[in-house]
Amino acid sequence: MTITVSRLAPSFAARIDGADITRPLSDAAWAEIRAAFEEHSVLLFRGQPLDDEQQIAFSRRFGNLEVTRSINPAAGTPFARQSNLDITTGEVIPPDDRRMIYQLANTFWHSDSSFKEVPSLCSLLSARIVPPEGGATEFASGRAAYPSLPEDVKRRVETAVAVHDFSWSRDQIKPGFFTEKERAEYPPVRHPLVRTNPVNGKRALFLGAHASHVVGMPVEDGRTLLKQLLDHMTQPQFCYRHEWREGDLVIWDNRCVLHRATPFDTTRYKRLMQRTTISGDPAELEHVRGSVR
Ligand code: SIN
Repeated sequence: MTITVSRLAPSFAARIDGADITRPLSDAAWAEIRAAFEEHSVLLFRGQPLDDEQQIAFSRRFGNLEVTRSINPAAGTPFARQSNLDITTGEVIPPDDRRMIYQLANTFWHSDSSFKEVPSLCSLLSARIVPPEGGATEFASGRAAYPSLPEDVKRRVETAVAVHDFSWSRDQIKPGFFTEKERAEYPPVRHPLVRTNPVNGKRALFLGAHASHVVGMPVEDGRTLLKQLLDHMTQPQFCYRHEWREGDLVIWDNRCVLHRATPFDTTRYKRLMQRTTISGDPAELEHVRGSVR
């Protein structure tokens, strides 16, 4: 089978055809997919109805899977379940339920697991049940956006460090959303505002909803800077919107892409997306580790 790569948006994102990811891949096919991932940041595979085992097997080609922590209904497994369906009964969850309020934060631009000491490499989202309208996912490329930043802004951000705090992003939905125990489980961490891809050397903005403030700046000034950078990065020319079909698998590079869920009528329609998340390289951001101020 020949693998083909077709661009989905002017500056990033591509569709991959000619690979059956429901089955084990040859090393040659895998090498092409991995190279396309580094180049295009978001990859779409259509018509790949994965079950959980198949998704885990394909995800493992990218690296170690994160294990979902206490807050997700699929806690303790490699899946972060994105759904309005109760994991046990399959019934629609009411919109005022804590599980649905928690998921509302996915509608903010974010990078999965940027609140962790070792942020993730990538996420793989498999569309199992798709609503007939709404529920698209949008992506914004921090790599495509970086070169057009004004030079003085580049100088300001290239060595800057942001504090990422899971509680901060949830507080935006509902102040005090996390319990003390949950806050203690996810202490704030520091990451650079600009990351360099280790394969091709391309730079990218790294921010999103978990980025609370900037180290060494007054909190409000840091938030203003983060908002300016986000506004720049999420201009239409740096974005791709994915309208899901059942059987789609989309992979995105959390090092250089932000994403957000978009609304659908959760009381009328069902949506079930299974996400696996791959751990990043612990050595990559070693230089900014340390206590958060
Ligand atoms: C996510 O934020 O990881 C999931 C996005 C979605 O459900 O569209």
